[in-house]
Amino acid sequence: MKAAEVRNRFVNHFVKYGHDVVPGVPLPFDDPNLLVVNSGMVQFVPYYSGDIDPPWVRATSVQKCVRTIDIEEVGKTTRHGTFFQMAGNFCFGDYFREEAIAMAWELSTSPVEEGGFGLDPERIWPTVFETDDEAYDLWHHKIGVPKERIQRRGMEDNLWSMGIPGPCGPSSELFYDRGPAFGAEGGPEVDEDRYMEFWNLVFMTSIRGPGQTKSDYQLVGKLPHNNIDTGLGVERMATLLQGVDNLYEIDETYPVLRRATELSDRVYSGSGTSDHSAQAQTDVQFRVIADHVRTALMLIGDGISPGNEGRGYVLRRIMRRAIRAARLVGITGPVFPELLPISRDAMSPSYPELDTDYDRIAMIAYGEEDAFLRTLSSGTTILDLAVRQTKERGGSLPGKEAFTLHDTYGFPIDLTVEIAAEHGLTVDESEFRRLMTEQRQRAKDDARARKSGGADMSVYRDFGPTQFVGYESLEADAKVLGVIKDGELVRVATPGEIVEVVLDRTSFYAESGGQVADEGVIELGDARLRVLDAQKALKELVVHRVQVESGELTAGLAARTLVDPEWRLAARQAHSGTHVVHAALREVLGPTALQSGSYNKPGYLRLDFAWSRALDGLDLRGVEESANAALRRDLPVTVEYMTLGRARELGALALFGETYDSTSVRVVEMGGAWSRELCGGTHVEHTSQIGIVTLTGDSSVGAGVRRLEGHVGIDAVRFLANERSLVSNLSSLLKVSSGELVDRVSGLVQRLRAVEKELVQIRSARLAAEASALVDCAETVHGARVLTTALPSDQQAGDVRTVTVKTANGITDAPAVVLFTSLSDGQITCVCAVNKPGVKAGLSAASLLERFAAATGGRGGGSAAVAQGGGGDPRSIEAGFRAVAALVSETMPH
Ligand code: ALA
Repeated sequence: MKAAEVRNRFVNHFVKYGHDVVPGVPLPFDDPNLLVVNSGMVQFVPYYSGDIDPPWVRATSVQKCVRTIDIEEVGKTTRHGTFFQMAGNFCFGDYFREEAIAMAWELSTSPVEEGGFGLDPERIWPTVFETDDEAYDLWHHKIGVPKERIQRRGMEDNLWSMGIPGPCGPSSELFYDRGPAFGAEGGPEVDEDRYMEFWNLVFMTSIRGPGQTKSDYQLVGKLPHNNIDTGLGVERMATLLQGVDNLYEIDETYPVLRRATELSDRVYSGSGTSDHSAQAQTDVQFRVIADHVRTALMLIGDGISPGNEGRGYVLRRIMRRAIRAARLVGITGPVFPELLPISRDAMSPSYPELDTDYDRIAMIAYGEEDAFLRTLSSGTTILDLAVRQTKERGGSLPGKEAFTLHDTYGFPIDLTVEIAAEHGLTVDESEFRRLMTEQRQRAKDDARARKSGGADMSVYRDFGPTQFVGYESLEADAKVLGVIKDGELVRVATPGEIVEVVLDRTSFYAESGGQVADEGVIELGDARLRVLDAQKALKELVVHRVQVESGELTAGLAARTLVDPEWRLAARQAHSGTHVVHAALREVLGPTALQSGSYNKPGYLRLDFAWSRALDGLDLRGVEESANAALRRDLPVTVEYMTLGRARELGALALFGETYDSTSVRVVEMGGAWSRELCGGTHVEHTSQIGIVTLTGDSSVGAGVRRLEGHVGIDAVRFLANERSLVSNLSSLLKVSSGELVDRVSGLVQRLRAVEKELVQIRSARLAAEASALVDCAETVHGARVLTTALPSDQQAGDVRTVTVKTANGITDAPAVVLFTSLSDGQITCVCAVNKPGVKAGLSAASLLERFAAATGGRGGGSAAVAQGGGGDPRSIEAGFRAVAALVSETMPH
């Protein structure tokens, strides 16, 4: 039975029992505790905790999961995959243990012809939590499993949680006995390879507290109702039903493994897990390849790009391990172009988007592999050396070496550790971590120094936070707390001076969240300051950079901050416009197009987002239209403060890598859920106030990141007006209507090309004519004809070459050397050709040209028949010609 069929049967079974089919969520699901989804229940957490009323009472899903915690086990056991599909049934306060157990048993054991999995009931071993008598009795009395096949296990195995505080409960796992060939008797307690777990039924009842391991936490409360969360490993069921040994040999993974063996000179023997021979090591590597290539495919498919942090690093690590495993089995050169399409074909029956998205996926994967192969070749040499030295010296591989490998060659630490371990060495990881921390701190300090122009920040530390009143009002009464010049407090600033001012309150928005600082003035009695910039020097401290226009500025004065209302309106339009474009972008491209950075100022917006290919005209137009449609719908823009947890539940978009205050975040909504982002910026009240948004296009700003730019409000109108006048100027210049412009211009371009081609032909014909007239001027040097001369200037190098070769070969009755030059922009182009009799006589165009180049100070090279060069000093051309004649004279027999 194919894995896809396992999925279908599972879902159909639970639909039959009144479950709604809920699609799985993308791997990078927005959960603050997880980099990637690792269990089917992740999307349902809020319904278990009772925070949100579930839209369904019973649900079933097939969820893509990635777990890297057991990554070292991949290929060594028969059942650990970094990517797997978890099929689950879930219910929130409806049925409980009894029904869940009955439904799982029925699907597992009913015959294949009747839509079940047809497992032999005698070989299924359930486990239950040690105190869960209820589950025990159900298995024994209701289902009829004999006592000796039901095992009770402790917290470690049978109390399930997500590993963090939150919902948890006792579980009951189903294991299938694969027979004596797979290991010792005695049930899952004894051997989990022989007895393979295929289904976990969790009876979610409680809330767990903090703790590091699976057995050192407390239960801190009860959930509002009893719930069911189950997970069947699709790959494990497929392993059992396809009669294969392990999950790397099922229909969804084996094609990759097989292709890898074809690329390698080794074989895959399918050795068991207890075997430690060299062949078994090779088998492990093949399995790693099969597993990791698929995981990389699925991660990239869901919009993750390789990087050095977070999810990006999960992917990078997987890819690097796959590439390394391929090298260990003797595959050289890139493997992803070979293996990824195979994995795609195996997975696309269940995930058709892998087909449609393949160009993007391939671009990211192949690019990453290319970069890593370069890294690998330089890093491996260095690591080999370090390993050798460490072995001679004894002890562990120094953290400094590991750090250099990481920092300079992008060598992941775990790869270094792994390679070292293969040589029986450990790595001084604590030293490595210390160096990493130091480096991070340096980078942070650098960034801060850049932002503050390198100034010493200590001067700001004496000031408390600035109260920002700019959301409500454009003006504020304030007091001058300090005046700073060149990083030092000063007493007074006079007209013309540029200084920094710290106030207790301000209506000026300091640059943050992509929005630039407000412009305006600060008035203090007779004095007036123009605000040039406003930055948050410390977290809540706004520093205004001002130029004194009139009067005197001193600390202690009462001030009034006045933001330019026109500026602010345009800034609000631009920032709200950015949110609108972001939402529109996701509407058109899907949720993976997530903003990674933005910048907006009056009239202009810019948005960087995760995407790997250029947007075509259709996408761009789609985004623009959907954005402007949102303006037309006049969506209300509202601001709400809430906890970070609540904001995430509502699906508010936050920037990866930003830190937010978890107790109170500001959420800006447009039309409710249509656009919901964590944002501290200033916004319009209704989307129609944005006016209009036009997009000018997109460009690439690094691997997997595109940048979209546009105009907002009156600037958008101006942009369109400019475009219009451009078109109308062109129309009148070309004397066609605007609709005919493209045809006319492309006609013109075509004609121009044809004319250029003709011109080239005419020029080279003329050159050839001139050259043949020159043949008579050739001198004779010891029986060889030598023609060295300067052709008219500004000839194309190609033309000079053609004519030189033709002229030399036109002389057939004697050895001949032709060297022609032409000057363009004061540079010599020169070509030397020797005819066949000449080559036979020992003349070489390459040597002759070398002589010429030596005499003129130029460069060049080629073969005995033709050589080409350039550069050099035009004043020494004659000397060059003489040098050529001299060499001919030396070469030819006297
Ligand atoms: N949530 C349970 C698991 O992941 C079913 O094993």
